[in-house]
Amino acid sequence: MSFPIDRPRRLRRTESVRRLVRETDVLPRHLIQPLFVEEGSGIKSPISTLAGQFRWSPDTVGGVARECAELGLPAVLLFGIPAKKDALGSEAWNADGVVQQAVRAIRDAAPGLVIMCDLCACEYTSHGQCGVFEGGEVQNDPTLELYAKTALSYAEAGADFVAPSGMMDGTVGALRAALDDAGHASVAILSYAVKYASAFYGPFREAADSAPQEGDRRGYQMDPGNAREGLREAALDELEGADILMVKPAGPYLDVITRLRERTDLPLAAYQVSGEYASIMHAGAAGLLDGDAAMLEAVRGIRRAGADIVVTYAALDLARRYRDHGTL
Ligand code: PBG
Repeated sequence: MSFPIDRPRRLRRTESVRRLVRETDVLPRHLIQPLFVEEGSGIKSPISTLAGQFRWSPDTVGGVARECAELGLPAVLLFGIPAKKDALGSEAWNADGVVQQAVRAIRDAAPGLVIMCDLCACEYTSHGQCGVFEGGEVQNDPTLELYAKTALSYAEAGADFVAPSGMMDGTVGALRAALDDAGHASVAILSYAVKYASAFYGPFREAADSAPQEGDRRGYQMDPGNAREGLREAALDELEGADILMVKPAGPYLDVITRLRERTDLPLAAYQVSGEYASIMHAGAAGLLDGDAAMLEAVRGIRRAGADIVVTYAALDLARRYRDHGTL
């Protein structure tokens, strides 16, 4: 027999054959677009740290949400930037708060779109920590009460999902119980189950005005060296009633996504965070690489690792490219 026996290149010769054997698709239905909303009206203000992303006001966010829906994105994830902050972050559960207004506006503009609300305190607290901050530490159980109030407020505004991102112990169980008790059994929970204390959140903290005033988040977000601990976090959230589990960031933690995919039968999401997105955008803008191709490759890699769903700032752009080219 002559060498080589097998020639894998036969399946790479033309784009048609490559498409035929491609294992991992990226389609609009796999993607969630994060949207930032701030108080005011008529606002579409570019976010300097996140090229192509904007802060919207409740009266303008409906338009972009409708475009997301029309292009086949199933869901948006809302982040609120309140006009005023206090020690407990009480604007988070204001029935007329910025996220609550945005939920109602999006529901009108794009009735079928899945509306998810990021649920955390850091954008709402004057100290920028993700909960009740006392004695130099975030107090776990008192924080759960604030999260529960916020979840109910988002549910009452019409959210389909709450997405707790604060990494307090027992969050999912506390939210599930609070939602069920208040008659919101059909509001789902997308849990940021495995969330690392990451340097890749830098551009977000600028965008959402949520950097901690003192200290850091390593007392609740996970150590980047740990994978098994992430599996344990995810198992707890599953037991407590999470509907979708999420790993965040995505790119530096692909091994965690793969290992978790093998352990759970729940849908698995991964969040390509602000620093991952901004790095690619900047490198593209500097002419160091083809930004569009690199973004798609990064998202495809997250899917290939095992994520069913990718939260990415590039979602709307990828959906537009899909519309224009019929493929990604
Ligand atoms: C809120 C929250 C953060 C992100 C999502 N939800 C910030 C943080 O934990 O510091 C980061 C998103 C991103 O970087 O794109 N707790």
